[in-house]
Amino acid sequence: MADVADAGARAEVAARLRSAGSVFAEEEADLLLAELDGDELELAIQDRVHGEPLEHILGWAEFAGLRVAVHPGVFVPRRRTELLLEQALAHLPRHGLLVELCCGSAALATAVAAGRADASVLASDLDRAAVDCARENLERYGGQVVTGDIASGVPEQLWGRVDVVVANAPYVPTRQLGLMPAEARLHEPVLALDGGPDGTRVQDRVVAAAVELLSPTGVVVVEASRSEAEQTAARMVWRGFIPDVVLDDDLDATCVVGRRSLPPDE
Ligand SMILES: C[S@@+](CC[C@H](N)C(=O)[O-])C[C@H]1O[C@@H](n2cnc3c(N)ncnc32)[C@H](O)[C@@H]1O
Repeated sequence: MADVADAGARAEVAARLRSAGSVFAEEEADLLLAELDGDELELAIQDRVHGEPLEHILGWAEFAGLRVAVHPGVFVPRRRTELLLEQALAHLPRHGLLVELCCGSAALATAVAAGRADASVLASDLDRAAVDCARENLERYGGQVVTGDIASGVPEQLWGRVDVVVANAPYVPTRQLGLMPAEARLHEPVLALDGGPDGTRVQDRVVAAAVELLSPTGVVVVEASRSEAEQTAARMVWRGFIPDVVLDDDLDATCVVGRRSLPPDE
């Protein structure tokens, strides 16, 4: 009998979500029903029907197999950013130091800290809500979170010693912000999205900071849009890096890896 009731509840919730435009209505219904009931469930369904991101309603998102906290007003980590994680890990030496700039919830830094106990991990963001969320995620795994514009909060003693600087900085060109899906436009802060006139303004500031943060053999890894990756790469060249554009069609992801110098034996 309980199974029939469960199936009925699932179908009803899914139908309400689907009629509001949800593409993954059944999966979303399962997640809501697993965590909520009664008035809380009803309010959550209404919020979702009105376009609030599911992750903000649940209070968490899945990233690289981890459940990371995502508070309302904080950018929801995207699956495509797992390419950035993969590239950051590939360039992080044993006992290395990784700094995530523009960290948002610090999903990426948290995945590094969770999987690489040998590494030191620090994350930074300008936004107070993001920093609070990042602390909740990263400090559980021994990482550190600081507040500041780009890298201004990174402790002085770490400058010049970082092995990997990684950032999914905002990269939507300002004129395209109005074309974004309502979920992002209405529920994620402009600070998290607006990449300036050509989308590379914040990325360029990240790369400029990486020049000072990185050790001589360090790398900077930046997420980019596919259409603007060459501009991101050009910014890196201008700052003295050798860029490599990396694509992943399955994740629909693009990132640019910048090396400061070639390894000594190449
Ligand atoms: C696209 S979101 C990405 C967040 C996170 N890296 C992720 O992938 O989930 C960009 C983040 O950059 C932060 N940000 C924007 N401008 C910044 C600045 N000048 N200094 C530091 N952080 C900044 C925003 O607060 C936001 O959390």
